[in-house]
Amino acid sequence: MNNNGPYNAYISAVSHYFPEKVVTNSYFESYLDTTDAWIIERTGIKERRYLEDDQPVSYAACKAIERLFEKFNVKPEEIDLLIIPTVSPDMIYPSTVCIVQDKLGMKNCWGYDMLAACSGFIFALMTGVQFIQSGAHKKVLVVGAEKMSALANKNDRNTVVLFGDGASAVLLEPTTNKTTGIIDAILHIDGSGGKYLKQPAGGSLHPASIETVTKGMHYVHQDGRTVFKEAVKGMADVSLEIMKKNNLKSEDIAYLVPHQANLRIIQATADRMNLSRDKVMINIHKYGNTTSTTIPSCLSEYYEEGKLKGGDNLILASFGAGFTWGAVYLKWTI
Ligand code: UT7
Repeated sequence: MNNNGPYNAYISAVSHYFPEKVVTNSYFESYLDTTDAWIIERTGIKERRYLEDDQPVSYAACKAIERLFEKFNVKPEEIDLLIIPTVSPDMIYPSTVCIVQDKLGMKNCWGYDMLAACSGFIFALMTGVQFIQSGAHKKVLVVGAEKMSALANKNDRNTVVLFGDGASAVLLEPTTNKTTGIIDAILHIDGSGGKYLKQPAGGSLHPASIETVTKGMHYVHQDGRTVFKEAVKGMADVSLEIMKKNNLKSEDIAYLVPHQANLRIIQATADRMNLSRDKVMINIHKYGNTTSTTIPSCLSEYYEEGKLKGGDNLILASFGAGFTWGAVYLKWTI
């Protein structure tokens, strides 16, 4: 992706929030035909976090943002633009961004929700980056936030065990150093894959009705095997492509930061990139698949654990519903 603007964008602050309620695999064993061993072996997930019934996704987004403001000494009124990629907004409209903006008093910002499923974070990141690169804005907040527990059918072992809730925020700011921050991105969509992972009802095609509710059409539906195969190929191909385009060898990369949908997809991508396990950010065992939150939450946790240093080359990679997929190459700065 070309940058003809005067600035590069860099991540100047990062934060995450996961709810307190821990849901272990044994909870699902208690009422579904599944086992802790199956879930760990096939997905790598040991537990996930759930928001309470009266806590919508905006609650998690606000927690992550408040934490970022506090830790990095940023004031709500400094934010120019807020983008929230999510498949689980509080409601279709007003946007979750409007709800969060009001709750946190970010009175000088505009913003919008974005829908790109598991690629939501990197698509939103690259959208926010454009406003920084062009010089239009100085502080852009990108917040992956999800309440996947509200979209999963509690009686479907194929999907419910996979997902969790949470939110994570990154702040983008400009730098005149064009060799640091977000350097490059390759993003793709292929709508012919839409039928394999979807939430069919609740939109204008199938508005809520007794029939849609009875048939469970408001839940996540996934052909896991097909998505798995496409994800392994899509994530590995695009990660290799961005490495090649930027003349990066495996030894140049500090971390792969992959979307956390399945540990086996992550491992297959790392193998194709010839990266050892210690160079792959992983938190799927603790949180499951949190859709647009997985990548920024990894960044935030590894940053807080002191595992990231200025100048580290990172490859962010994702694959998800749509199909949507892509990779971002960035040089860490904080
Ligand atoms: O984040 C967005 C993108 N999403 C993804 O990237 C997810 C991609 N897909 C996957 O991660 C995997 O396909 C799953 C984890 C969803 C499933 O793993 P799998 O190894 O691909 O299993 P499968 O779909 O091939 O199913 C194997 C068997 C099936 O039984 P039969 O038909 O062989 O009798 C399933 O019914 O495993 C069964 N199964 C389960 N068994 C115990 C499915 N879910 C469960 C479960 N516990 N929770």
